Amino acid sequence: MSSNLALYIPSPHAPFSLGHAEIPEPGPHELVIKNTSVALNPLDYKIQQSSAFPVSYPYIAGVSFAGTVEKVGSALQTKFRRLDRVAAGRISSHSEPGEGVFQQYVLAHEDAVAKLDETVSLDDASAVIPSIISVVGALHVCMGLSLPDLNHTHNQNHEKKILVYGGSSTLGMRAAEYAMQAGYTVVTTSSPANRAQVSRFCPQAVAIIDHTIPVEEALVKAIVSEGPYDYIFDAIGTPATTSIVAKAVLQLNCTSSTTTTTTIWSSRPGGTEDLLGGVQRRGESYPHFVEEDEGVRRWLFEEYLPLGLTSKTISVPDIEKVGGGLGSIPGLLDRMRGGGISGKKLVVDPWETEQF
Ligand SMILES: NC(=O)c1ccc[n+]([C@@H]2O[C@H](COP(=O)([O-])OP(=O)(O)OC[C@H]3O[C@@H](n4cnc5c(N)ncnc54)[C@H](OP(=O)(O)O)[C@@H]3O)[C@@H](O)[C@H]2O)c1
Repeated sequence: MSSNLALYIPSPHAPFSLGHAEIPEPGPHELVIKNTSVALNPLDYKIQQSSAFPVSYPYIAGVSFAGTVEKVGSALQTKFRRLDRVAAGRISSHSEPGEGVFQQYVLAHEDAVAKLDETVSLDDASAVIPSIISVVGALHVCMGLSLPDLNHTHNQNHEKKILVYGGSSTLGMRAAEYAMQAGYTVVTTSSPANRAQVSRFCPQAVAIIDHTIPVEEALVKAIVSEGPYDYIFDAIGTPATTSIVAKAVLQLNCTSSTTTTTTIWSSRPGGTEDLLGGVQRRGESYPHFVEEDEGVRRWLFEEYLPLGLTSKTISVPDIEKVGGGLGSIPGLLDRMRGGGISGKKLVVDPWETEQF
């Protein structure tokens, strides 16, 4: 444990820069993790581009990773041991350099660490973590869906239907799987290219609508024909997808006798926005709701994630493992930003970074 390489954002909007970082020391409830698997997420490039995220600089980005425990905080000596295999999500309120994920040794708080057995691949775990935290925050804490039951023994929600728009995004696949495991009836969308993967995540979906239909009216009609919906989650969250989903909701509301407001829960944070005809869009930073709820957080990191990954009840998205270590990340984020990644998660091993 002699040196630690990190990928920094030196100042707001500046290009990424490789450099040496201090090896963090764990506080009582923290672990230092030798980080061998970083999964890349859209937030990783958004944070470099936008001023909407209040972080201090130099900043080390990244939100999901996996590896082995290197050092254990004094209060965790009975819970963790050196070389335990773990996956972790970054707690969003933490932005100390040691907590950045794009580095070889990362400081993690026990609250957001899942212990893995030897059967679980570290790449699979880091690829799964960010979407699971967000979906639990969105579908359970914010939207009020039940928790899923991995044994499928208590699923009582079939009469309730959820539309997951953008089911071929990482977030959408996870939301569709989660809702299915919690017993809801799921309608989702995909491009034809990713349809098989969406079916793998959510084999019980009653419909997987092609969201690449070139005529918007036909897409809206297809969504309407599978409705009405008790819950709506737009995993893409762009103005264009909000508009498509809102048009479908308006048509459904016109044909129903209910006059209550319909909420489109969106992956784009920004609070609540009133659209036309009693439809509202609501978007939050969903991991925050998991961080705030100790019971849900413990269930997620101590039960659902480790048990679901071991039993393979939690599906893993297609993964592209890219060589080159931390130095490859800026180019990969450019690919993501340009829309060049479809239906897969990019994963990097920081220990493949060339020394300099
Ligand atoms: N608010 C939160 O807490 C939160 C949490 C996590 C993620 N997010 C946000 O949620 C969004 C999705 O994240 P992610 O990790 O799931 O991204 P991702 O896996 O990289 O999403 C890429 C996929 O989205 C689909 N897609 C892109 N544009 C689309 C469109 N116009 N209509 C339908 N599908 C489209 C594509 O599927 P096809 O190729 O099959 O069309 C593509 O495979 C990002 O903007 C991310 O920042 C928000």
